[in-house]
Amino acid sequence: MSENQSRHGATKVFNINHSKNMIYLLGGSGYVGQAYQKLLSEKGLPFKNLKRAQLDYTEVETLTEALKKDRPEFLINAAGYTGKPNVDACESDKANCLFGNAVLPARIAEACEATNTPWGHVSSGCIYTGAREDGTEFTEEDAPNFTFRQNNCSFYSGTKALGEEVLDSAKDCYIWRLRIPFDHNESPRNYLTKLMRYQTLLEAENSISQLHEFVAATFACWEKHIAYGKYNVTNPGYVTTSQVVDLILESGVCKKDYAFFSDEREFMSKAAIAPRSNCIMSSAKLAKEGIEMTPVVEAIRTALVAWKAEVSS
Ligand SMILES: NC(=O)c1ccc[n+]([C@@H]2O[C@H](COP(=O)([O-])OP(=O)(O)OC[C@H]3O[C@@H](n4cnc5c(N)ncnc54)[C@H](OP(=O)(O)O)[C@@H]3O)[C@@H](O)[C@H]2O)c1
Repeated sequence: MSENQSRHGATKVFNINHSKNMIYLLGGSGYVGQAYQKLLSEKGLPFKNLKRAQLDYTEVETLTEALKKDRPEFLINAAGYTGKPNVDACESDKANCLFGNAVLPARIAEACEATNTPWGHVSSGCIYTGAREDGTEFTEEDAPNFTFRQNNCSFYSGTKALGEEVLDSAKDCYIWRLRIPFDHNESPRNYLTKLMRYQTLLEAENSISQLHEFVAATFACWEKHIAYGKYNVTNPGYVTTSQVVDLILESGVCKKDYAFFSDEREFMSKAAIAPRSNCIMSSAKLAKEGIEMTPVVEAIRTALVAWKAEVSS
């Protein structure tokens, strides 16, 4: 193993022979992290699910030492601060939110760079609002427009955008943008559950991500060794809230009268503290690399069919 002085000063760079197939997973206990655990288990790949309580991976030195010892071939960062039950909670816990979403990725980048560990970071599509000026979907070329720079965003979105900025020059790093995850499992974090449970809904247009397709597509980036960089990882197309409600009704999973706010102003005054991101995104860059996701309406229908089958079994 050779050792060089790195541009980080005290940190050294190690040329390491990475062990084949061993994966590091940060934040594996979370909603997205559990989907990665499932994927890696199904693939039969050895992985280490790191938890802060057991190994404080938020400390550069601790993570660097662990990486030097275990030499994983790849690291997945599914750790971050989301705010529960929703992003409004981030407005009153800003230090933790900023740390989890902006400081932590910078620290992981430092540890990965010092050990030559390639890695992927779970970012979010919530750093955009609306569509491009010509009405088309945002691509990875478009600068985020729902950030602290525009002063129009939630604190959560601002920190997620900062998290991408700190990784602008990160080495051997994928930035994967997840957007409103859903699947067939009832969970307060699942978009479909949210629509079925919320008393009143906001009509909006969004690109969204089937959670298990998201984790599979992101891991495929590493498996296929496509170019590092930013990727929108959403199911092709976009849907309105009422379109999804129609699909829920059509499936028979949850029959009720769905009520809608008359507009965003009513939603903000009655149900929210922080502004929400609603946006449409293109996943064409990923598809160009041969990683294709199911068109969004088909993916929702499939999730609802599986949901119904599970409920009635
Ligand atoms: N869920 C969504 O709707 C959604 C949408 C788009 C993007 N994302 C992004 O996906 C990532 C994972 O989200 P998730 O929904 O899986 O979150 P989650 O369920 O809250 O899990 C996140 C995990 O991150 C770890 N963590 C590390 N530092 C943290 C900190 N400062 N504060 C809180 N948790 C911290 C925790 O694991 P340990 O303590 O066990 O280490 C926690 O279990 C986040 O970066 C999030 O921004 C989520």
